[in-house]
Amino acid sequence: MLPVSYRLESVWEPDGGPCGRFTFTLFNLSDRPLSGFRLAYTSLTRIVDPSACDNATFLRRNANFHEFAPLAGTTLRPGEGWTFTVSGLHRPAKHCTDGAKSAYLTLSNGRHVPVAVSDLLLEGAMSEPPPVRLPEGRLDLPFALQPWPAEIDAVPGDGFPVVLYPATGSSADEINAISNVLALFHRLFPAGHAPFSLAASKQGRGIVFTRKTHLAPEVYALHFTNEEVRLDYGASAGRQYALTTLAQLLNGARHEPSKFRFPVQGSISDAPRYGWRGCHLDVSRQFYPTADVARLIDILAWFKLNVFHWHLTDDEAWRLEIRAYPTLTTLGVLRGPDEPMLPQLGNGADPVGGFYSQEDVKAIVAHAAALNVEVVPEIDIPGHSTAALIALPELADGQEAPESYHSVQGYPNNALNPAIPLTYEFLEKVFDEMVGLFPSQYIHVGGDEVADGSWLASPLARRLMEEEGISGTFALQSYFLKKVKQMLTARGRKLVGWNEVAHGGGVGTEGTLLMAWENPKVGIELAREGYDVVMTPGQAYYLDMAQAEAWQEPGASWAGTATPAHTYAYEAEGEFPEDLKGRMKGVQACIWSEHFLSRGYFNRLVFPRLPAIAEAAWTPRSQKDWQRFAAIAPLTPILRA
Ligand code: ACM
Repeated sequence: MLPVSYRLESVWEPDGGPCGRFTFTLFNLSDRPLSGFRLAYTSLTRIVDPSACDNATFLRRNANFHEFAPLAGTTLRPGEGWTFTVSGLHRPAKHCTDGAKSAYLTLSNGRHVPVAVSDLLLEGAMSEPPPVRLPEGRLDLPFALQPWPAEIDAVPGDGFPVVLYPATGSSADEINAISNVLALFHRLFPAGHAPFSLAASKQGRGIVFTRKTHLAPEVYALHFTNEEVRLDYGASAGRQYALTTLAQLLNGARHEPSKFRFPVQGSISDAPRYGWRGCHLDVSRQFYPTADVARLIDILAWFKLNVFHWHLTDDEAWRLEIRAYPTLTTLGVLRGPDEPMLPQLGNGADPVGGFYSQEDVKAIVAHAAALNVEVVPEIDIPGHSTAALIALPELADGQEAPESYHSVQGYPNNALNPAIPLTYEFLEKVFDEMVGLFPSQYIHVGGDEVADGSWLASPLARRLMEEEGISGTFALQSYFLKKVKQMLTARGRKLVGWNEVAHGGGVGTEGTLLMAWENPKVGIELAREGYDVVMTPGQAYYLDMAQAEAWQEPGASWAGTATPAHTYAYEAEGEFPEDLKGRMKGVQACIWSEHFLSRGYFNRLVFPRLPAIAEAAWTPRSQKDWQRFAAIAPLTPILRA
């Protein structure tokens, strides 16, 4: 590791301006004087009034990218610092992760050099350590199960079998199912003792499988005795869940025998509460190598989640290889100081990219399918499309005024244009390739956060609106999304989208599934309009939200804070009128990656809230118990450090 030559310290004071004030100090740790340079940093707390800065000249901003220069004649000798303040901010900082997430210098010779950053310090108030997120908890029954089963009436044993093995007469499929869950266990807990063996063991216990065709596919039952475990299942998913339950029981008993046991008598009868038990991952803001994606899917399977919603594109990058448009994953992923796309959150002096080849995608889809997890891909359109528009500039109306609208994240002119025929040709080809890669009946097309005012400065869009009698951005969005829905229907797929898909007239409720993210009420309104809904409200299920008010708690704050206790207790179905409950298809965790610059922050924010949502997705309301959950949650597997 090379020593750090430059470091940027950032402090935020609540009283320094309408939204507070940043004080930045750049330290020259190199052995040479520094002059004639520019400083760039990325931060979610954006500057909107460039005149409100002191001892620096604002040069430019693009979304979260900011660039400043020191005043003329500034020279920093080794060990010296340059301090400047920025107070024209668009919102106050709330957490330690609201400052500079990355920085670099551009030297007078044009070279870009890294600058180290730390989390944002709070000035003028004490930044208390955040409270403990998880109590010690309490167990009424000493079983390490997460999610907790629908029904359990089991007696804990004193010891536990050394392994579980397929009883004589098990089918090849059943033996394979054991091997698959054993492999899953080894991947998640490489140092753990195997819960299963394919060979019989005298100190072990046999599993007697019975397929019961009257049971629904995800349903299973386990009957325990001193001699054997009877496992009844509806289909392969139920069998996998039963084996996962056994692996969890044995892992807990072996890991912490004073706390957890393996049953010696009694039974578990289990079935999921919801059909859609999802987890989303935003791989655009930060790229996750395929090994990490596969591991997250392993973790979903361990918690009996069954949908992996893969958010593959956004303003920051288009990560899905589309062979008809190779620039999507060259120009459309590369961010760097001299690239068409400037650095964003976490990017610095070196260009960064990252995408999934079609071979990678096939491997991930196969990995997920083997664990009964369905991969639902998302391309986020028409908004959130900066990367696609950089990769394919012909998709923009050249006559549209630049910066004629900005998304809530600060990106200018970032929506695909509904008035350009090439937009539809592009999407037809993208969907053609997607249906070959993703067997899911669902394709998610985003539809969120199109800025009000989008397209109104595009002469092509204006003409189309006049011809079609369309008025306003959202009616035009509806026109566009209806065409998208037709494309999906023609390919035998269903449209999934974020709740704003219903704006401006929507797309028709038939075969459409919408995700209610802005708040819980939206989900009920959509159900009333006739849409099927999955509940993903930011206030409880967005895993990038900070887990406490405390400054030192990392994460976002636009939807408030979501303690693990709140996420656990939240009942998405709570306020649904009885007659609309059938429209609620399930719940989903969302992992937005703006703040996930390190695995440390990923693990801290995602766990244990992800298993909390898994329990909401699986366990009947009457069986939910926060203290029990808290006692078991420390066993959770995490993404590798
Ligand atoms: C979203 O959070 N924009 C779906």
